[in-house]
Amino acid sequence: YLLGIDIGTSGTKAVLVEEDGRVVASSYVEYPLSQPRQGWAEQDPEQWWQAVVAAVQAIWAKSGLDGRDVAGVGLSGQMHGAVVLDANYQVLRPAILWCDQRTGGECTWMYQEIGEEKLYQWTGNPALPGFTAPKLVWLRRHEPEIYNQIRHVLLPKDYIRFRLTGELATEVSDASGTLLLDVAARRWSGEMLAALDLPREWLPRVHESPEITGQITPEAAAATGLPAGTPVVGGGGDQAAGAVGTGIVEEGILSAALGTSGVVFAMTAKPSIQPGSTLHAFCHAVPGKWHLMGVMLAAGASLQWFRNQLGGEEIKEAAATGTDPYDLLTARAAEAGPGAEGLLFLPYLLGERTPHPDPAARGGFIGLTMRHRKGHLVRAVLEGVAFGLRDSLELLQQAGVKVEEIRVSGGGARSPLWRQILAGVFKHPVTTVNSTDGPAFGAALLAGVGAGIYPSVEAACRSTIKVTSRAEPVLSEVSAYDHLYALYKSLYPLLRDTM
Ligand code: XUL
Repeated sequence: YLLGIDIGTSGTKAVLVEEDGRVVASSYVEYPLSQPRQGWAEQDPEQWWQAVVAAVQAIWAKSGLDGRDVAGVGLSGQMHGAVVLDANYQVLRPAILWCDQRTGGECTWMYQEIGEEKLYQWTGNPALPGFTAPKLVWLRRHEPEIYNQIRHVLLPKDYIRFRLTGELATEVSDASGTLLLDVAARRWSGEMLAALDLPREWLPRVHESPEITGQITPEAAAATGLPAGTPVVGGGGDQAAGAVGTGIVEEGILSAALGTSGVVFAMTAKPSIQPGSTLHAFCHAVPGKWHLMGVMLAAGASLQWFRNQLGGEEIKEAAATGTDPYDLLTARAAEAGPGAEGLLFLPYLLGERTPHPDPAARGGFIGLTMRHRKGHLVRAVLEGVAFGLRDSLELLQQAGVKVEEIRVSGGGARSPLWRQILAGVFKHPVTTVNSTDGPAFGAALLAGVGAGIYPSVEAACRSTIKVTSRAEPVLSEVSAYDHLYALYKSLYPLLRDTM
């Protein structure tokens, strides 16, 4: 068996997987997100550790198996978060997360100080507030007493690796999101570290994703029930690991992951650096491969916001009937036709990253009339998120990515209506696969490669992942959405000054 653990933003998921890809048991332990100020997002790494322990223990309870049956462990996690440790490996402050928007000023400073050309040359990427490096610069400026004690910087899943194995290590896919990695060379960028005056010694060593990075320590064994000595592989940032878990390891097959964020992801055979673009050009969790992705910040989060604020009726009905409030909301949306009678939704509830690198961007409903009912509003949210994802898809196509099929995953992929809308907006077939545990499942496959069960990541995907549904674009919807997408695209530039 293989164990995959994903340290997400809302909770930690663990999955126990058989060699043929069957999921034997899965568990999920939630934790809160702290938003001490508008635009800030933090979490205490100790909460992740407690959740990992509880999630792994729950796997033994559910499966009746124990850790002796595990050949390897793979880690995945929310990317970009800054976990800062002192000389005694103690956490200095809550981790600053990927969706934290406080570093707009630091990013502007980086463009002025380093310049766009060198940023792309050294790291392959733009300076965006979500990334790790600007968070470290922010700490230097705003919390010097903390900054002066920093001796180690880790990404969220790599902090868990440290607690499990005692090793300070990362792997290329997650390291790409720090803005400190030379993505083309797959190693830390000495130039970038020097330009930001950040010590090289703070950073962990970098592995390829399926490589073994260490073994479970006796202390971690006592906490988790995994035997001491069990190998832990590099794993991946949640996007790269999720791509492995849905089989996005060859050209032509893209993915759209509808979690809290929304990510359109394509594998590339070479580093595909796009100067001036808000696409992220990162290392893939597949050795010798890279990927390009566009990240919108509030995909599932937009629908979740709608459910929480305006779905009280559906929440009650779902509780009474044992159904899911999201299903009730999307059923209403199905009654409103494509275009929601002229209602458009801008999904920038958390600011935006791709294609608008703007922490101050805001969402909105545009075009409301007295005729609009709740179903229209839900439909507009589903379509607005789809348009935001199309922005990323078009950037990928402009970068030369060819598209045959788009696999959707994440909570949003459960809705057949949303999948049909996505097919119409993308103008390509939208599919789902058997593995619905995304990043945790991908991390388990990477562990299988490290443990020698599969010869390669591609082979692991081939022997475990199958397409289970396919939505084709419908011609009449395609032309309706083309028209609406053009309107959608025109709105952000027109409204920016009001945000
Ligand atoms: C990727 C990103 C998000 C987080 C979500 O660049 O910021 O997808 O990894 O967990």
